[in-house]
Amino acid sequence: MVEAENITKTYGDRVIVNDFSTRVLRGDRIGIVGPNGAGKTTLIKMLTGLLEPDSGKIKLGSALELAMLDQGRAKLLPETRLKDALTGGGSDTIHINGEARHVVGYMKDFLFTPEQANTPIGKLSGGERARVALARALSLPSNFPVLDEPTNDLDLETLDLLEEMVSDYAGTAIVVSHDRDFLDRVATSVIIAEGEGMWTEYAGGYSDMVIQRGEGVNARAAITKAHRAGKTALAQTTAATAKRKLSFKEKHALETLPKDIEKLEAEIKTLNAAPADGSLYAKDPASFAAKSKALAAAETKRAAAEEQWLELELLREEIEG
Ligand SMILES: Nc1ncnc2c1ncn2[C@@H]1O[C@H](COP(=O)(O)OP(=O)(O)OP(=O)(O)O)[C@@H](O)[C@H]1O
Ligand SMILES: [Mg+2]
Repeated sequence: MVEAENITKTYGDRVIVNDFSTRVLRGDRIGIVGPNGAGKTTLIKMLTGLLEPDSGKIKLGSALELAMLDQGRAKLLPETRLKDALTGGGSDTIHINGEARHVVGYMKDFLFTPEQANTPIGKLSGGERARVALARALSLPSNFPVLDEPTNDLDLETLDLLEEMVSDYAGTAIVVSHDRDFLDRVATSVIIAEGEGMWTEYAGGYSDMVIQRGEGVNARAAITKAHRAGKTALAQTTAATAKRKLSFKEKHALETLPKDIEKLEAEIKTLNAAPADGSLYAKDPASFAAKSKALAAAETKRAAAEEQWLELELLREEIEG
C-alpha cells in the first residue's frame, strides 16, 4: 500500500524524521506512538502522500483510498443536523462498504438514538462530537483509514466500539494513539519515536514493542546499525537506563498519574457538558469563554499527564526488563 524509502523531514533546525524506511502491506494495522511534538502527524502525512519529504521516496499503491480522521477533527458547522453531517444532506441513506444503509441504523452503531437525528452538531457534547467525526471518517469509501489520535475524548463505550471496528476491519489502517490497551488489541506493528527524528518499527502491539525494546542489545544493535547518525542519542539512553533505577519521585508519579488522569477526565466531561449547549454562549458569553478556557487547560494537562505516564512506564519496563 505504501513504501517509504529513507524519508527525512526537517523543520528549521529540528529533524522530525531522520532516514526512515517502511513498507505498509495490505492488512497491516500500524500504531504510531511518541511524545507530543515528536512528529507523529508529520510522519503519517508523509506516509499517506499528504506531505512531501525533504528527501527520500514515498510510493503509494494505486488503489489507495484514504480516509483521514485528523487531530483537528474536520470542522462541522454547529447548525448542521446530525444526520446531515453523516449523509452529506438531502437523503437518509448512507453507503457503508458499498452497502446502502438507513442513517438512523448507522447512527445506532455509534451509540446515537434515533431522536438525535435532527440535533444540531453544536448541541452535542464533546464526546458525542468526537463520535460523529469517527462515524464520518469510517463512512468514507476507503480501504485505508488513517486515524490521528482517535481515542482522545472518546468515552469508554465508544472506545470499545472503535476497537472492535478497527480490529474487525480487514483493510489497512494507521492509528496514532497513546492508548496502550487499544494498540495491544488492534496493532499489527508499532512505530515509535526514539528521539532526534529516529523512528523504529516493531512487530506486534504495544506490549510486544516494549518487550522488544527491552531486549536491548540485539534489537538495539540492529537499530544502531540502521541509524548510525542517531547512534549517540540511543547509546546514551541505553547506557543510562541500564544503570539507573526509578527515583522515588518517578515511582510516586507512576502511582499517582493514573488517578490524576482520571480526575482530569471527569473534569473534562463536566466541562464538556456545558459549552455543548449553544444557549450558554448567547446567555452568558463570559462564562462560556471561561468554561472553554478551563476545558482547553484540562485537556492540555491530561495530555501532558498521559505523556509523562507513558514515558515513565516505558522506562520502568525497560529497567525491569
Ligand atoms: N509546517 C510546519 N512548519 C514548522 N514546524 C512544524 C510544521 N508542522 C509541524 N511542525 C513542528 O514539527 C513538530 C512535530 O509536529 P507534529 O504535529 O507532527 O507532532 P505530533 O507528534 O503529531 O504531536 P502531537 O502529539 O501534539 O499531535 C512540532 O514541533 C511542530 O511544531
Ligand atoms: Mg499530532
